[in-house]
Amino acid sequence: MAVQIHHGDILYAIDKDNLQSYTDSYIVVADGKVEGIYDKIPPQYADAPVTDHGRGVIIPAFSDLHVHASQYVERGLGMDCLLYNWLNDYTFPQEAKFSDLEYAKNTYDAFVDDLILNGTFHACILATIHRPATNYLFSKMEEKGLYGLVGKVNMNTASPEYLCETTEESLAETEEFLKEHMNTTTVKPIITPRFAPTCSKELIDGLGKLAEKYKVGVHTHVVESKWEAQEALNCFPGYGSDSEIYERAGLLDHGPSVFAHVIFPTEEDIRIMKKHGTVAVHCPDATTNVIAGIMPLSALQDSGVNVVVGSDVGGGHHLAIYKQIARAVQLSKLKEFYEPDVSKTISFANAFYCATKVGGSVFGKMGSLEEGYHFNAIVIDNMEDKGIQLTPAERVERFCYIGDDRNIVARYIDGKPL
Ligand code: GUN
Ligand code: FE
Repeated sequence: MAVQIHHGDILYAIDKDNLQSYTDSYIVVADGKVEGIYDKIPPQYADAPVTDHGRGVIIPAFSDLHVHASQYVERGLGMDCLLYNWLNDYTFPQEAKFSDLEYAKNTYDAFVDDLILNGTFHACILATIHRPATNYLFSKMEEKGLYGLVGKVNMNTASPEYLCETTEESLAETEEFLKEHMNTTTVKPIITPRFAPTCSKELIDGLGKLAEKYKVGVHTHVVESKWEAQEALNCFPGYGSDSEIYERAGLLDHGPSVFAHVIFPTEEDIRIMKKHGTVAVHCPDATTNVIAGIMPLSALQDSGVNVVVGSDVGGGHHLAIYKQIARAVQLSKLKEFYEPDVSKTISFANAFYCATKVGGSVFGKMGSLEEGYHFNAIVIDNMEDKGIQLTPAERVERFCYIGDDRNIVARYIDGKPL
C-alpha cells in the first residue's frame, strides 16, 4: 500500500450547514484515497513520506457540472447580449469552427490546462456536434487523469445550417461516440442534447434508446430562461414541463442527469428531478451575463433537489468554480431581496458544499476529505494579511472572493501531484 501524508490545515464540507476544519493536522492518503486525519502521525505510518504545506489549507478539488469547452475562446465576449442573440451571434458561429480538428485541439488543450490551474478536477462538459473534436477533448481529459463526463452535442432543428445535424446523422454519430468510450477509466460519455428548442422529438426519443442501450446519462439546459421554457413547450406539444421531455424519452433512467440553470422550475420539473436524482446546476456568472434570471437555490434544496455549481463558460466568463461559490452567495441575496417569498440567502458553507461534495458525488467518492474519498485536493495559501491570522474557513471564503490560481499552491488527483 502506498501511503503519503500531508501536513497543514484542512477544510471540507460535511453538509450544507457544516464545514469541518482541522488546524496543524496530518491527512493520511493510502493508494490515492483518504485514510484519516490526525493531530499526530500515527505510529504505523511513521515511515511514510510527509509533505508539509505549512499554513496552507487542504481542501477538496472543485467540480464544474456545466461547462462548454468549445466556448473557452469566447469567454468575456458578447457579454452584453441575452441568450438568444448571444447564441446566434457569437456562440453558434464559434462552435462551427470545431469541424476543424486543429482549431479544436488548441482550444481544448488550453481549456483542460485552465481547469487544472483553477483546481477543477471533475467536470461535466459539453463539446460541439463534431465527434472527432469531442474525442480529442475526451482523450485530453483522460491523459491528465481528470474525472469527467463529456458529451458530443446534439442539435437537429432551429439551428443555423452550418451547425445542424440531420436526425440520422446525430443519432449515428452519438452511437459511435458512445461505443468508442465504453471502456474508459476516469472520463465517461454522457448524452448531450443542447436543449429542447434545438432538438426534435424524434431525436430526443432516439437518444433515449441510446441511453438505455449504453447505460449512460444526460446533460442539457432546462428552464433556463422564460423564452427557453416557453419554446420547449411549443416544440413539444402535449408535454407538461421541460423536464418531462427527457423523462418520457427514458433519458433520466440510466446514468446521471444534469440539468443546467433550472431558473424557472415548475412543480412538475421539481418532481421529476427529485424522482431521478437529477442535479440542478447553478451557474452564477452565466446567469447574470446571458440569462438574467436567478436560480431559486434554497427553494430547490428545500424541496429535495440536489444543487451543484457550474461555470457555464462561455456564458460564464471564467472557469474558476471558487468565484462561482462567492457569486452564488451574492445572487442568493439579490433573489431574496427581490423575491423574498421565492428563495433565501445561502451561507458560504452551503455554496462550498454544492461546489465540492454535491458536485463531486456525480463522479464517485469525490469532493470531500472524509475517509474513503479520492484524495483529489488542492492547497490554498497566502490569504492572510500580515500579522492577522484567519481560521481555515475564513481563508477559504476569502479565496473564493478575491483569490486566483496563484493562491492554489499544490494540486493532487488520486494522491498524485499535478
Ligand atoms: N442554451 C442552449 N445552448 C446554450 C449555451 O451554449 N449556453 C447556455 N448558457 N445556454 C444554452
Ligand atoms: Fe450552457
